[in-house]
Amino acid sequence: MSATSLQSVFPQDTNSQGNLFAGTLVGWMDRCAAYAAMRQARGNVVTAAMDEITFRVPIVQGDLVEIQAVVESVGTTSVRVKIDVWRERIEDGARELCVVGHFTLVAVGRDGRPVAVPAPS
Ligand SMILES: CC(C)(COP(=O)(O)OP(=O)(O)OC[C@H]1O[C@@H](n2cnc3c(N)ncnc32)[C@H](O)[C@@H]1OP(=O)(O)O)[C@@H](O)C(=O)NCCC(=O)NCCS
Repeated sequence: MSATSLQSVFPQDTNSQGNLFAGTLVGWMDRCAAYAAMRQARGNVVTAAMDEITFRVPIVQGDLVEIQAVVESVGTTSVRVKIDVWRERIEDGARELCVVGHFTLVAVGRDGRPVAVPAPS
């Protein structure tokens, strides 16, 4: 199961050097990871952990940012998702893999307690 989202970097998303704020990007990654996990769980999820987020290449104002979230494993109630973040320079379409992360999301019921995730088909 997977999800993809596109964002563009506006001035309010950047620091004084024109680089995208890490916190803003992590928020985008979290949403995309949740969409992939919700598709797997067929229900609501919460984020339990964000591990190993590696920022390799800066993303700058004007870039198109593609976030790809792929379910890499499914537990009893948890879903582990790998997230790759690509920048795309709009002028020539050049793409670079900038950030990689692994998030764990847990399927929850209305009471906020963990519930079983359907087994992958
Ligand atoms: C995530 C949460 C529902 C887990 O509840 P819990 O009572 O600790 O649940 P359990 O101990 O039964 O663990 C449930 C699953 O979560 C996994 N899990 C819990 N904490 C984890 C962590 N820090 N890292 C990785 N996995 C974790 C467990 O391994 C288990 O997976 P499995 O069922 O696939 O084996 C609870 O801690 C919570 O509500 N946290 C706050 C979430 C939140 O507010 N997120 C931000 C907003 S979305």
